[in-house]
Amino acid sequence: MKDISMKTATEKELGQYIVSSPLFRRSLKQEHHFDTTLGRHSIEVTKAAMRLCSKLDQLGIQTDHNCMMVASLCHDLGMVDRNDRYQNNMECCQKHPGNSVKEALKLLPDLDQKTQDAILSHMWPLSRHMPSSKEGWILLAADKYVSSAGTIRHLLEKIK
Ligand SMILES: [Fe+2]
Ligand SMILES: [Fe+2]
Repeated sequence: MKDISMKTATEKELGQYIVSSPLFRRSLKQEHHFDTTLGRHSIEVTKAAMRLCSKLDQLGIQTDHNCMMVASLCHDLGMVDRNDRYQNNMECCQKHPGNSVKEALKLLPDLDQKTQDAILSHMWPLSRHMPSSKEGWILLAADKYVSSAGTIRHLLEKIK
């Protein structure tokens, strides 16, 4: 894979670069929650986050699209091979955001601090890092929304 810079690439180029990386491709094969894969979950979170950014942009509230694209696609990369990396769900819950930052830095060595913080805080309040930017709060909301929608869909299927 050719190296890419977060400062000079477009959001589309960043998205294509991350999605085509070997680690992200592996995430597309890992089961996640009830009816999806880890990679598919991250793509859905990214779509929801980018939609929120567009809405805010329309309201005159500027958001950083490169940060949003990278943080959303990378936020759960630290969960790839979770059964080998973590002893239980609690450990996974607490440690995967930090490991996602490490994986994102391997893909994008010039990953900026705001994007690192957004990834690190996406499990708040279950982890102690609170979001410190608009993009961090948007990622938190998008991740909770997509995860909850999946759980509700699964429960509704069960009571049909
Ligand atoms: Fe996560
Ligand atoms: Fe997630």
